[in-house]
Amino acid sequence: MTDMTHTALAPRGDFPLLAANPLLHYLDSAATSQKPQTVLDAITHFYGTANANPHRGAYALAAAATDAYHEARETIAQFLGARDSDTLVFTRGTTEAMNLVANAWGRTHVQAGDEIVITALEHHANFVPWQQLAKSAGAQLRIAELTDDQQVDLDHLASLLSARTKVVAITHVSNAVGSITPVAEVVRLVRAHTSALLVLDGAQGAPHLPVDFDALGVDFYAFSGHKLLGPMGIGGVIGTRARWEECQPWQFGGDMIEWVHDMDSTWNVLPHRFEAGTPNAADAVGLAAAVRYLRALDMTAVRAHEVALLEYAQERLAGMDGLIVYGPPADARSGVLSFTLEDVHPHDLATILDQHNVCIRAGHHCAQPLMRRLGTSATARASFYVYSDTRDVDALVHALVEAQRIFAPVDA
Ligand code: ALA
Repeated sequence: MTDMTHTALAPRGDFPLLAANPLLHYLDSAATSQKPQTVLDAITHFYGTANANPHRGAYALAAAATDAYHEARETIAQFLGARDSDTLVFTRGTTEAMNLVANAWGRTHVQAGDEIVITALEHHANFVPWQQLAKSAGAQLRIAELTDDQQVDLDHLASLLSARTKVVAITHVSNAVGSITPVAEVVRLVRAHTSALLVLDGAQGAPHLPVDFDALGVDFYAFSGHKLLGPMGIGGVIGTRARWEECQPWQFGGDMIEWVHDMDSTWNVLPHRFEAGTPNAADAVGLAAAVRYLRALDMTAVRAHEVALLEYAQERLAGMDGLIVYGPPADARSGVLSFTLEDVHPHDLATILDQHNVCIRAGHHCAQPLMRRLGTSATARASFYVYSDTRDVDALVHALVEAQRIFAPVDA
């Protein structure tokens, strides 16, 4: 049995919701993470001490708001390995980031006869924007298939790449089954065969793996704050300056403007050109507090903690009748345990687990193309994070045994 103490990497006491609910086993961090007190404090502090509209006022309070927003961008960019913090554009999250890239770059660069390559692992947020771009541009969508353990089939991916490929958009980590994309290998393949835009969906990568954007070799990296201990409604996309220069603004309004003439307009510099309207400064400040908290934990330790929990869970579940666990081995998977249990629908499982204070997600996980390839409409998914420990896994296993007992087929 994997040698683990009960201890989580981050104390439950740092997380008000977990501290207030000592019996709760929160195993749905892939959907959203819990928030440490330091994040809540940072948001309150912003509104209590620096609340004004950034970039808009000549008075000291507005300057304080602008400074806080600017510092948040620097902290978050640095955490994700981008030395040039102005190449981080804030969005509401990964979904908006993918729509931004598909519109701001895709609408002007993808034409009839071009090809866009994605994979069968993608979350709908990194599937549908490209599917719809392909439809409107008259381009072809190509989908890289998967190995038997739901990793991107790199041979198939390579076979899809050609001079016609304009975009390759691929997940860093699958939200539904946890598969980790070997980014260096993908970058090598894409750069060897194409001059395509290479976009990485980091919604499930940034919270769980060390990310060094400047070393990755991709063009854009998108992420969501709420999955990495930050607030909902803030995330972003980091891009290389060269690729940002190829983009056209996709939303128009205040702050992204240089001059507005009667019949045409010119645009502000990066990153403001792609941030129309009043920014979500308070949540950016909250997200900066979250990444400081993760940095103190150390992302290598975060990864090691999740691998240990995953291995512990797999050992405890080994041999359970009718259990199918999806995804690759723990060294190629984030802290996600996606499974089905014979005779029990995933939604029923989630309901029974809830009666045991175990929170999991059940359904298609916004990855219907993947579910079709798994031959199921839904899986149950438990997902771990820094505050998870072996007691959460033990509670999960206990509740699964109970569910199996309740749904055991009745003898004729
Ligand atoms: N994308 C989130 C998930 O995987 C909501 O649950």
